[in-house]
Amino acid sequence: MPLPRAGSRTDVILFCPPGVYRAQSDTELLAGRLSRVAPGQDVLDLGTGTGALALEAHRAGARSVTAVDLSRRCVGATRLNSLLHGVPTRVHRGDLYEPVRGRRFGVVAANPPYVPSESGVLPRHRRGRSWDAGPDGRALLDRVIDAAPDHLTPDGVLLLVHSQVCGPEETVARLARAGLAGEVAARARIPFGPVMRSRAELLERRGLIGPGDRLEELVVVEAHRG
Ligand SMILES: C[S@@+](CC[C@H](N)C(=O)[O-])C[C@H]1O[C@@H](n2cnc3c(N)ncnc32)[C@H](O)[C@@H]1O
Repeated sequence: MPLPRAGSRTDVILFCPPGVYRAQSDTELLAGRLSRVAPGQDVLDLGTGTGALALEAHRAGARSVTAVDLSRRCVGATRLNSLLHGVPTRVHRGDLYEPVRGRRFGVVAANPPYVPSESGVLPRHRRGRSWDAGPDGRALLDRVIDAAPDHLTPDGVLLLVHSQVCGPEETVARLARAGLAGEVAARARIPFGPVMRSRAELLERRGLIGPGDRLEELVVVEAHRG
């Protein structure tokens, strides 16, 4: 699919089978920061989907790119997209850092599921696994943060994208508890997509958005060792 990219590239064709997250505004916002920090680095793309961010890391001149996803289809799509683009991504199927246990990276980038869901039980199958993230939207985000210090080199960088409904302040506070200094490095205000629209009443009920709000702010948080 064409992914318009302001500033760093015009478009990328990505094979995106049904059930695989189609690269969109959050992917693009994170890609913009990734392209600045990836040159010369070993990059880990957590929750790779189609591999859009892995390809961006290659394009920006990463030394190596490793991608992980829980979904077989995403792993297959990323392998195929890497092949089509002639880049050597190491693609693993598994739960977050589990396939790269014991390894450290100069850059860890993640666009994890972050949409608040009705229940704390995360979907086990394809549908919803790209976005459902528990009642506060932080089920995956917090796990990515807590284990990041074990997977970053001493001067490594963690890049995370999520919606403001998950609380960027909580992200920065949690990073600090993990020994990482984080700050919001990029923002974009976008209209709700179909998933956020379908959750709007739930989000209003929980006080995560104001009545009638149908715009969300996406943030990229960038963190280094404190
Ligand atoms: C919002 S999508 C992002 C896809 C891609 N990185 C992008 O930016 O377009 C989140 C991805 O995380 C994957 N995922 C969900 N839970 C995961 C887990 N526990 N471990 C690894 N990947 C996971 C989903 O399968 C999905 O591909």
